[in-house]
Amino acid sequence: MCGIVGYIGQRRAYDILVQGLHRLEYRGYDSSGVAMISDAAELNIYKSKGKVEALEHFAANKDLSGTIGIAHTRWATHGEPNDTNAHPHFSQSGRLAMVHNGTIENYSVLKKALSAHGYTFVSQTDTEVAVQLVEYIMDTNHCSLFDAMCEATKRIVGAYAFAVIDRQNPNQIIAARQSSPLVIGIGEGEYFLASDATPIIEYTNKVVYLDDGDIAVIDRGAELKVFDSKTTSKSRVEITELQMSIEQLEKGGYPHFMLKEIFEQPKTLADCISGRVSADGKKITLSGVIEHRSKFLKTKRIIIVACGTSWHAALIGKHLIEEYCRIPVVVEYASEFRYANPVVNQGDILIALSQSGETADTLAALELAKSRGAFVFGICNVIGSSIPRATHSGCYIHVGPEIGVASTKAFTGQVTVLAMMAMLIGQMKGTVDDATLERVATDIRRVPTLIKDIFTKNDKKIEELAKIFTYAHNFLYLGRGYNYPSALEGALKLKEISYIHAEGYPAAEMKHGTIALIDNDMPSVVIAIKDNVYEKTVNNIQQVKARGGKVVAIVTEGDTIVAQMADYVIEVPEISECLTPLLTAIPLQLLAYYIAVNKGRNVDQPRNLAKSVTVE
Ligand code: F6R
Repeated sequence: MCGIVGYIGQRRAYDILVQGLHRLEYRGYDSSGVAMISDAAELNIYKSKGKVEALEHFAANKDLSGTIGIAHTRWATHGEPNDTNAHPHFSQSGRLAMVHNGTIENYSVLKKALSAHGYTFVSQTDTEVAVQLVEYIMDTNHCSLFDAMCEATKRIVGAYAFAVIDRQNPNQIIAARQSSPLVIGIGEGEYFLASDATPIIEYTNKVVYLDDGDIAVIDRGAELKVFDSKTTSKSRVEITELQMSIEQLEKGGYPHFMLKEIFEQPKTLADCISGRVSADGKKITLSGVIEHRSKFLKTKRIIIVACGTSWHAALIGKHLIEEYCRIPVVVEYASEFRYANPVVNQGDILIALSQSGETADTLAALELAKSRGAFVFGICNVIGSSIPRATHSGCYIHVGPEIGVASTKAFTGQVTVLAMMAMLIGQMKGTVDDATLERVATDIRRVPTLIKDIFTKNDKKIEELAKIFTYAHNFLYLGRGYNYPSALEGALKLKEISYIHAEGYPAAEMKHGTIALIDNDMPSVVIAIKDNVYEKTVNNIQQVKARGGKVVAIVTEGDTIVAQMADYVIEVPEISECLTPLLTAIPLQLLAYYIAVNKGRNVDQPRNLAKSVTVE
């Protein structure tokens, strides 16, 4: 959360910064701002509450000159979202400007100390404290910005990606990273800096990912230098080639990224499977698992840590791994796990499941498990992000950039990887026989085509259905077995983008309390596909209907029993039970999307949310 951008080169920095802010807006959109050193050697800061568009409007008639600058789009942590708390922040003398992604835990102690030295603060942010601290160190130690940044990072406790510029030196940006991501793009005589690679890809595909503790010195026209902030010794600059394309970052004719990403799933899942499931369905190849085969064969327990939608995918992963590998699996919210003093044994495998690969809680949970001797395995989407860099091994889901704040294609990518893992580990352990492997693997290969089929048959139908339920105030989502997590995910999708209250529940649990909520105004979305608890789910539907509730049922194609009792029915094709969440997810995503659109919500950037949760 929060996105930072920087540029130094020959072009007008403002244009690159603003374009970069648009690309990073999904990380937070409470306010945005830019700082540039102008052609007249002024340090100009323009910032505005709200979206990047508001900033552009505000800056329109200002001096936008300068070929060096930094910029920020904010998800507020310290201080309410307003113009004053927007980044960049000035130092006391107005000489330095800083942008920051992260949170500084000891900021109030530092602020007190600086106040005692006569420093005053205009904002409530922790970032202003950091930039004042840097200037204080420069002034008292008579040192360079680089030396002051090294010293400041020793005194600061917390997470940060900083970028700082100095009015007195229009040829340099200093950037530092600790627990918040930073990528530097290397162009021809120019450098780009950003929280992720999306603002960089249209200019260059050569990037350097900073590691924790790195400080980068980005000098105009000179070689990029990276140092260890503690020892100030030079680090190796490792250039990586980006595999991303600019088309992946555009809406491609869709009104929203979310709809594009929903409809992309046949392609993204084909990419996710590609080269991993053999054409005859007899072999699954996941090198991250195969290379550590003995760890997976010997482990007595797998712990999966995740947040939000990824946590729902993890619950499906638990079913898959327990059913097919007979290994006990514990699924934990990363935020709970990290502070719970959890039991982690030597030989345990911890899987960190995260689309962004940057979620602070998930990263901290994996570091904790690693420090206690677990083998840590990452399942992520964003290549080169912090989690894959911190794990012993892992698998990318390869679904391409997910820009819509509500996760869709990453969820199905995660479930697909977990299904492939379960089959592979099961085969290695001998708990999956050849026939089962072939059946499930062949079905995994069918998923992209079956999802296309769901779009053809159901998209318009769901759009119509959404009109009926747009004005409901509450929803219940019910499912069992593999589709209990699907119910949780369906409810989350609706909540986050439409702001309608929704609860996901295991269908049979409903009668222990939640059933009291059911009446004519409380629609229930019930996932009632033909699985091993189908009859039980049918009973649950009857219990809802008996109390006057409206039922939208997601059923297996050709189902006639539920069709007679539910008010509305959406069919999905038949597939191996363990893969049904990949199909039931599609109507749930579409239903949430169309309801949110009908309500006039900002589907891609719902209120209060950000895509990449890099703070606690
Ligand atoms: C919901 C959503 C969030 C994320 C959660 C974890 O649609 O996107 O709940 O799933 O913030 O994010 P990652 O997967 O990046 O760790």
